[in-house]
Amino acid sequence: MIKEITAQELNTENFINDKVKEIRHMVGDGMAINALSGGVDSSTVTMLGHRALGKRLKTVFIENGLMREGEPEQVVRLFQKLGVTVEVVDANKEFFAALKGITDPEEKREAITQSFYKDVFGRIVKESGAKHLIQGTILTDIDETVAGIKRQHNVFEQLGIDPKKAFGYRIIEPLIQLRKDGVRKVGKALGLPAELFERIPFPGPALSARVIGEVTLERIRTVRKATGVVERLLKDTGAFQYMAILHEDRVTGMRDGKRDFGQQIEVRCWESVDARTATPTQLSFEILEKLAGEIIRDVPGIVSVTYNITPKPPSTIEAV
Ligand code: XMP
Repeated sequence: MIKEITAQELNTENFINDKVKEIRHMVGDGMAINALSGGVDSSTVTMLGHRALGKRLKTVFIENGLMREGEPEQVVRLFQKLGVTVEVVDANKEFFAALKGITDPEEKREAITQSFYKDVFGRIVKESGAKHLIQGTILTDIDETVAGIKRQHNVFEQLGIDPKKAFGYRIIEPLIQLRKDGVRKVGKALGLPAELFERIPFPGPALSARVIGEVTLERIRTVRKATGVVERLLKDTGAFQYMAILHEDRVTGMRDGKRDFGQQIEVRCWESVDARTATPTQLSFEILEKLAGEIIRDVPGIVSVTYNITPKPPSTIEAV
C-alpha cells in the first residue's frame, strides 16, 4: 500500500528535501534519465531530478507525433529558461507503426507503453548508460490501473511487471504519494512558472487517448486542430481540464449544399480537484456555439460538434 500525502498535509520543503535525498541515494554516482512531456507531473519530476542530480540527469522529450501543436518547441524553450537542457528525440515512426490497426482502448495504451518503455527508452537508456528512469507517476494513475479502469501507461510494479527485467532499467517514482493538487504545490515550490504548474492535465498517451478507433497521422492531425480551438476558447474558464475527442462514427452532414458523410468532434470540459471524480463545466450556450462554429470552420471534415454532460463516474475524463 502506498501512503497518500494529501495536498493539505503536504509540507513542500520537507517533501523536496526527502525526495532529493532518496533520488541521490538510489542513483548513487551513476546517471539517470527522465522523459519530459511538459505536463505538470513530468515537469515537476524534471525539476526534482535536476535538484538532486544536476547534469547527471538527462532529460529527453520524446517526439511521438501525438503531442499538441508546437509542444516540443515550447517545452524546450521553457526549460531552457529554468537552466534545464532538454534533448528532443524523434520517435514518430515507432509510435505510429505500433498503433497501426489498433482500435481497442486498452490495446492502444499497451502499444504506447511498449513503444515508449521498451523500444524508444530501451534505446536511449542503453546509449546513455543510465540505470535509472525517474518518472512522474502519481497516486491516481496507480488507483485507476489497479481498479482496472484504465491501464495508465506508466504503471508497472502494481501489475506485477519488473521494469528491470522487462526493460533493463529501474524506475524511480518520487511523486507516487501525491495527487494532482499536491504535485502542483511541489512544482510551484521548485520554481516552475505558473504556465507549467497550473497547466491542465494531459494524458501520457497524448492525443491518441482522444482518438476513438484507429490512430493514424491524419486522425491525429484532425484532433490536434480541434484541440487547439478548444484550448484557446476554454483557457479562461478556470476548469480542471478540457479537450477535443475525435469519434469513430461518421454522421450525415451537409457542406456547400451537398451531402457530406463527415466526422464528429466531442468537446469535454471538467470541474475536478484530483481527477478521481469530475463534473462537466456549465459552459454558457454562447461559448458552446463558438466552439462548434470555430471547430467546423477550422477543422477539415468535421460536420458535428457535441458537448459531453456526463459526470465521472460513470464517464472517465479521457475517452480512451
Ligand atoms: P481518466 O480518463 O482515467 O483520467 O478519468 C484521469 C486523469 O488522468 C489523466 N490520464 C493520464 N495521465 N497517463 C497519465 O499520465 C495516462 O495514461 C493517463 N490517462 C489519463 C487524464 O487526463 C485525467 O486528468
